Parts: sequence; C-alpha cells; structure tokens
Amino acid sequence: MQPVSRRTALLLGGLGLAGMAAGGTGLFLTLTSRPTLAVGDELTQPSILQSSDGRLEVRLEAGPGRVKLAGQPASALAYNGEIPGPTLRVRPGDVLKVSLVNNLGGPTNLHMHGLHVSPQGNGDNVFVRVGPGSTFDYEYRLPADHPPGVYWYHPHRHGLVADQIFAGLFGAIIVEDPAAIEVSRERVLVVSDTTLDALGDIQPTSGMDRMAGRQGQLLLVNGQLNPRLEARPGERERWRIINACVTRYLRLGLDGQHLELLGMDSGRLRQRLEVKELLLTPGNRADLLVNTATGDSVLRTTYYDRGAMPGMMGRGGAGAVRTEDRNGAPLVTLRVVGDSGRPLPSLAAGAAPVDLRSSAVAARRQLTLGIGTGMAMGMMGFTIDGRQFNDARTDTIVAAGSVEEWTLVNTSPMDHPFHLHVWPMQIIEENGQAVDSVRRQDVVNLPANGRVKVRVAFDDFTGRSVYHCHILDHEDLGMMGVIEVR
Ligand code: C2O
Ligand code: CU
Ligand code: CU
Repeated sequence: MQPVSRRTALLLGGLGLAGMAAGGTGLFLTLTSRPTLAVGDELTQPSILQSSDGRLEVRLEAGPGRVKLAGQPASALAYNGEIPGPTLRVRPGDVLKVSLVNNLGGPTNLHMHGLHVSPQGNGDNVFVRVGPGSTFDYEYRLPADHPPGVYWYHPHRHGLVADQIFAGLFGAIIVEDPAAIEVSRERVLVVSDTTLDALGDIQPTSGMDRMAGRQGQLLLVNGQLNPRLEARPGERERWRIINACVTRYLRLGLDGQHLELLGMDSGRLRQRLEVKELLLTPGNRADLLVNTATGDSVLRTTYYDRGAMPGMMGRGGAGAVRTEDRNGAPLVTLRVVGDSGRPLPSLAAGAAPVDLRSSAVAARRQLTLGIGTGMAMGMMGFTIDGRQFNDARTDTIVAAGSVEEWTLVNTSPMDHPFHLHVWPMQIIEENGQAVDSVRRQDVVNLPANGRVKVRVAFDDFTGRSVYHCHILDHEDLGMMGVIEVR
C-alpha cells in the first residue's frame, strides 16, 4: 500500500459529514469520463488466518491506503492493507484474540457480526471507542457448541459505520463445521459496493443518499468487478457469500447451476434447501453448494424493490433506484468446462436446530421501526419505538435464559433489515403468514409497512448490546436500540 493523498486522508478522517458532498459536485467527473474498469480477472481469495490448538491471535490494522478496487488504484480504508480484510477461520470452542490498531483519522471499533459471544468488556462490545492512534485488544470466547457458518467483521462506531464499511473495512469469519463437509473447493465471496471519483478516492455521500441508504456505483466481489472462476462439471463447490454492502439488497441467481443452501447467517439447515433465487439483505450471509454443470453462468443480482423514502415517488419510484439496479448486475462469471470432476460422497444431514416454536415464551414485545419527519436540517428521523439511538439509555431489558417473542413492525414505506447482536432470531411469522420451517437468522427483513414475528433464546451471555437496521446509513442516523440481558 502507498500512502494516500492528503485530501483523502482528510476526507476519510473527518467521516460522517453529511453536507460534505454538496460542495463537491464540481470536483467529480461524470460517469462517462471514468477510466475503463477491469472486468473478468480471475477471482481472488482474501488471505486466511486460521486457528490452531483452540486459539487464533491476529492483529488488524485499520488504516487508509492505496489498494486496487475493480482493477483500478483507489484510496480507501483497509484492514492490514487488504480489501476484504483477512478471512478468520475458527472452530467452536476457540478463543479469538484481535488487536485492533486504529490508524484512521477518527475513532473506530470492531464488531463480530453474528458470532454468539459475550458483548461485555473486551468481548463483542460495540460501545467501545478506539481513538485514532490507539490499539484495543479484543477477546472472544466461542462456546463449544457455537453454530458453524459464515460470519463477518466490520467497524461499529455509531455515526461512522456506513462510511467506514463503504470505504473498505470488512472481512469474513468462518466457523468450521464439527464434521467436515466434503467439497471440490471452497470460496469466499464478499460482496460490497462503493463509489470512486475520477481520482480513485471514495466519493462522499449526500444527506439525501444517507436517508435513502447509499448504493455504490461499483458492485464488487472480493474487491473485483465481475471476476471469473472455473470449475469442472459434476463438482461440488461451497460458496460463502457475504452481503457487506451498506444498503444494497442482493437477489441472487446463478442460471444453469444446481444450488443448495446449507445455511443462512448462522448454523446449518437440517436439510439442504434447493434454491433458484436467494435474497441477501445487507448483513446476511449464505452458505451455498454449487453443483456444477457444463456451461457459462453468471451469478447475478436482480432488481429488488425495497421501497422509497416517505414523500418520494412511492414504492419503486425512480427516486429510490438507479437504472443499473433495474437491469441487475453481474457479480461473478462461472465457466464450467472439461472432464467431470472427482465424484464426492453424498452429504449427511445437518444437526437439527432448536425449534423455538415449541418453547415457552417468557415475554412478548413489539418494536416499531419508523421514519419521522421534521427533524433538524431537513434530515428525517430514523427511529425504533420513536426514539433515536442513545448509548446511555437502555431500551429493552430481557431476563437471561428466557425465550421472547418479538413482533417487529415497520411503519415506513421502505424495507429495513433488522439485526440483533449476539442472539440469533428464529422467524415465526412474516406479514401474518406462519413460517413452517426452522429459519434462524441474525438479520431479518422487515418489508415496507409490514411486520415479522421472531423468537429469540437469550442464552449463554448477559450484558448490553444493540439491535438496529442493517442499512447502515439508517443505523448511523439513529435506527438502533440498546438491549440489556441480565
Ligand atoms: Cu453487522 Cu450491528 O452489525
Ligand atoms: Cu452485528
Ligand atoms: Cu433501515
């Protein structure tokens, strides 16, 4: 990595200024004058840091630097100079230690999205502030029965989260399966989006885009634009797909290939689920088997209507979406050629996940996500139960060890992906329709003007943590609440 320009350092250091974009219009060239972007490089994999003897100790340096995005030089933010940051591979029962070094111009911290670990002290504590120039030592103890699956890490300093992720701070975490699943090969696909100006700097985001939720012009997989990958027919690949976009919903399809879902977010499904299409809201992950057949296939995201801001042109209105979203966008191109790959043994079923539908419910509550008007400076208020985030206030108190049923209500005309830290949610009901399988996720989509019922087992840990909208612009604008389990 080379040092970044002073302008970028200033820009990335002074994050969170909604008004910044306003004066910048003249500085940025239009889309047509953008240099040609590299398409079709071979898909690369983030570097891997793997635990051994029950431990993994890593040093993550968050800092500005010169990296390659979409094949062109960019001044971005990165962990250890890489976008995505290194993949952390751990096992249930492991101790994971992370020294987070903050070389940014402003504060940051670290969140282990989806991990079932303590939110206290130097655990997965989002209230920690790591100031510029300082280091913080995190320690996470995974329970021996931690669900296997795909997780990820990213900054969680309120007000700066969307900007820091948009600029490149994210990486994958894999919790290994207790019994290995035999595949031809495994790949990690971290999907992100961002927008670069003509100089390769991350383009600032306007207040308007923050309210709608920013969508970057470049849609990237492991920092690459539509990279290609190759397999032989009859192979079984395992793809770990992470939606690390600030806002963008991914409706994924891979025509011509046979897809089986092993799990979503955390844990494995008991039976693999054949899928044609898969919706990943921001924060969601998919653990996917691709059973290959000869031919060229494009992993593509197609248009998803997530509604619009109140007062804008209604659901699906032009105010909310760009044309390229309507047409869909390619993520990776898979070419399957040659002789058949080595045949693999058939797969065993997963461990049956606990079904909370038969659990005694200790408390029922309702949480309402809404968008209010009349806030300062023309910004709308993004709220949960009518309140914006305040780290000194505890909004929800839950008894440790209990199972609760939450009705998540969305009173706004746009979708919000609802995320709860530490304790995964089982989806019980969507818009009045009972869900008839065990679906456990840590990000659950709340459709515009819709409602979803979930049950949560508040097991294993006590302490304060948060729930929020995973359109991270909305989280930064206040759509987050504090939960305390005690
Ligand atoms: Cu992926 Cu609270 O975050
Ligand atoms: Cu999280
Ligand atoms: Cu939202």
